[in-house]
Amino acid sequence: MEAALTDSAAPLLIVNNIEVVYDHVILVLKGVSLEVPEGGIVALLGANGAGKTTTLKSISNLLVAERGDITKGTIDYQGQRIQGLSANQLVKRGIVQVMEGRRCFEHLTVEENLMTGAFTRRDGAASIRQDLELVYTYFPRLKVRRTSTAGYTSGGEQQMTALGRALMARPKMILLDEPSMGLAPQLVEEIFEIVKKLNEAEQVTFLLAEQNTNMALRYSHYGYILENGRIVMEGDAASLAGNDDIKEFYLGIAQGDQKANFRATKHYRRRKRWLG
Ligand SMILES: Nc1ncnc2c1ncn2[C@@H]1O[C@H](COP(=O)(O)OP(=O)(O)O)[C@@H](O)[C@H]1O
Ligand SMILES: [Mg+2]
Repeated sequence: MEAALTDSAAPLLIVNNIEVVYDHVILVLKGVSLEVPEGGIVALLGANGAGKTTTLKSISNLLVAERGDITKGTIDYQGQRIQGLSANQLVKRGIVQVMEGRRCFEHLTVEENLMTGAFTRRDGAASIRQDLELVYTYFPRLKVRRTSTAGYTSGGEQQMTALGRALMARPKMILLDEPSMGLAPQLVEEIFEIVKKLNEAEQVTFLLAEQNTNMALRYSHYGYILENGRIVMEGDAASLAGNDDIKEFYLGIAQGDQKANFRATKHYRRRKRWLG
């Protein structure tokens, strides 16, 4: 199935050699290229500070608010250059970003949060209502909590609300930034299962930024490893998951063990020198 996806026509999204600078001087992305096929789940993996969020915000045009600029490279979606389109125009074309740290409107209820996701739609209350019900079939827990103030719901519920809100825009592609952040493993799994279902049943394409490499590779078709603003490795999820360097480097991080993490990192660097 993966082969058929990647071999089909032009990719839905092509990021070609982009460079991003913050505050005119801080070079963060140093020539990042990646492709996302239509119907795929692609993981963008890397440690904290690698540039994952910056990459997603480059695509969704949310860098402006951060004083960030794309100084080189191109971004094409459905065969068209999308740099310079506003975040709202991008939402209308079907690209929606779910921010890291599950950004909800804390003072609104869960259902009000979901409804804000439909703000660019002009297809009428009935079909929006229908999609709300669809979101509730994917997230039954949100239906139970629909009148609760979002700020008082659990971390997992807020992440679900953020994802459900994105769905209300009828996206073709979701840029999902670290859904696992701060959540217990079981909840992370629950959320990834929903991502998989949405991908299969609703044909939503995902570009998924994650530090949780193991979990992300279990649910993606293809992955890119980002290190210090550069893609250092890419491949099918299965081959990346079986790669010893990646296992060593990320195992410690996934387990949150600082000491193991440090040792693994040193070891990884050494091996990388030999390999390179
Ligand atoms: N608004 C900003 N201004 C200056 N530097 C930033 C800004 N946002 C992020 N950075 C820096 O860019 C680098 C990449 O950050 P980010 O894209 O958030 O990485 P990740 O999402 O992989 O953790 C980090 O060194 C971070 O400190
Ligand atoms: Mg980030």
